Amino acid sequence: MSSLADAIFDRLLPKRFATGVPVSAFAPSNIALSKYWGKRDVALNLPTNSSLSISLGNYGTHTHITAAHADSLTFNGQTIACESALFQRTFAFVERFRRGQDLPLAITTENTIPTAAGLASSASGFAALSQVLCAHWQWDLPLSTLSVLTRMGSGSACRSLWHGFVHWQAGQAADGLDSFATPIATDWHDLRLAVVVISTAPKALSSTHGMNHTVASSPLYAPWASTAEHDVQTLLHAIATRNFTLLGQTAEANALAMHATMLAARPAVCYFAPQSLAVLQQVWQLREQGVEVYATMDAGANVKILYPVEAESLVQSALPAALSGLDIWWINPFATIV
Ligand code: PMV
Repeated sequence: MSSLADAIFDRLLPKRFATGVPVSAFAPSNIALSKYWGKRDVALNLPTNSSLSISLGNYGTHTHITAAHADSLTFNGQTIACESALFQRTFAFVERFRRGQDLPLAITTENTIPTAAGLASSASGFAALSQVLCAHWQWDLPLSTLSVLTRMGSGSACRSLWHGFVHWQAGQAADGLDSFATPIATDWHDLRLAVVVISTAPKALSSTHGMNHTVASSPLYAPWASTAEHDVQTLLHAIATRNFTLLGQTAEANALAMHATMLAARPAVCYFAPQSLAVLQQVWQLREQGVEVYATMDAGANVKILYPVEAESLVQSALPAALSGLDIWWINPFATIV
């Protein structure tokens, strides 16, 4: 049965399918500095508030597609059964592009990040997929249109079409055609990010369920949405003026406000593990010692830390000492990309 989302794909995509060519694409994962948490339209993945992210350089998803005799999916070297949720979700999205045409595809995808651990693997996955689908049938869409289509795979994926800072404007239109991301033309070569990997297990509660439940039951939801909208403006100003302190303070406060809003849901939604709090305390302690570091967290236990490159040796020596046993990824978001 055709949905509103299907009708939007049909309206935005060319009618003609050129002969499919084998293509590959890479999309980076992204971390929101002001978060998307709540949908005003669940079917179209339309957000309540705007958000702003930073992409993770070479951490993301590589995807290759080619025409085949039957649909198949290989993920991280393994053939995925067609009954599995991953296969179903992937090909449900593919079908929106294919629109009933008999055009089977072999999709091969590799994540350079753990899947579904609050490290935005679905964001890079859907962004890489929509890029290869359009390139395969030789459709040259404006990136804003590609972002609208990618958003309907996974909200935060609409920001993963670019490197660097990306702004997703919530928009107001009921069909969501004004709800897409745009890159912010700034590079910030002395900005660094560390991901403290507390868990690589898939999260118990998907972000969609966590969001819908928070919107429906948290008394803090309305103030969260207006705070987040305001935080996006503050971050735009911090980026334009290269103000790291303002960037870090806003990002950390925004993440904690999002988690507070979830904790106030009934029953509570909690993505923290005991070690997440220990890492946050370590970050706060470093700040008390005068080291400029700030933390953010998404729908998972892992903690991401922002710091300027001049603090790198202090952060690198302080964190592992306090966090023995935890894996830490050191990321230069603006380094030369794959
Ligand atoms: O796009 P989703 O459904 O995976 O949700 C992303 C939610 C957060 O990562 C917590 C916030 C964000 O803006 O990326």
